[in-house]
Amino acid sequence: MEILIYQTYEELSKASAQVVADLINSKPNAVLGLATGSTPLGLYQELIRMHKEEGLDFSHVSTFNLDEYVGLSPDHPQSYHYFMHENLFKDINIEPQNVHVPSGTTSNYHAFCQWYEQRIEQCGGIDIQVLGVGSDGHIAFNEPSSSLGSRTRIKTLSEQTIDDNARFFEKKEQVPIYAITMGVGTVLEARKLILLANGTSKAQAIADAIEKPVSSMCTASALQLHPDSIFFLDTQAAGKLKMLDYYQWIQAKKPGAPPSS
Ligand code: F6R
Repeated sequence: MEILIYQTYEELSKASAQVVADLINSKPNAVLGLATGSTPLGLYQELIRMHKEEGLDFSHVSTFNLDEYVGLSPDHPQSYHYFMHENLFKDINIEPQNVHVPSGTTSNYHAFCQWYEQRIEQCGGIDIQVLGVGSDGHIAFNEPSSSLGSRTRIKTLSEQTIDDNARFFEKKEQVPIYAITMGVGTVLEARKLILLANGTSKAQAIADAIEKPVSSMCTASALQLHPDSIFFLDTQAAGKLKMLDYYQWIQAKKPGAPPSS
């Protein structure tokens, strides 16, 4: 695991966007796994800037989103389809047929989940998966007690997640209770994972994910099992890490480190 700590949200957004842009520049038909929520907004803004100012080309890129609320149609303002369109897709040159977001309104969730997994495979697997983390330690909507081998399926959201996400809705009662989400096992198959976290509300989840044993009670801890994962944190989200000085030492010494490949 690589742990990178930045003074500001803007810096962590730019640094994580650079990793995504480097991939697209070296592999124009890259497959990206994407997340919604507040955390990746800065990364998406930076990708849009790179597209407009530097010609970053998404015309051969494919994307797979982590999750969607059950019951919300793509045109619902709180749906993740709508979020992705508004916050990224409408401002880059991605082909609509290359965009995949789980369906919140399919008539057969089981079949849809199987199809989604197959479609990821058909596209060659995910090159980089962007992740946020819930204050309860979830990645995608894999709430505490989700199997670390889980696949795309329906999950019941935890009360903590419903409370956290109520800020996007007029009333807490409007937050859907169920979501369709990639599993932890699905996420772990991506070739690279980048998890972004900012703010004090994420500090405990980050400390649990990085410094506690791997556990289904904090599904972000599953990143410990992945050979190529990077945490992009601001100083607040990194605030409860016991080994903070060591991670900052490694980061500072990185430019002089012997090349690993
Ligand atoms: C969203 C997702 C969630 C969020 C997490 C953090 O697609 O999969 O795991 O990343 O709930 O949300 P924010 O960024 O809003 O704090």
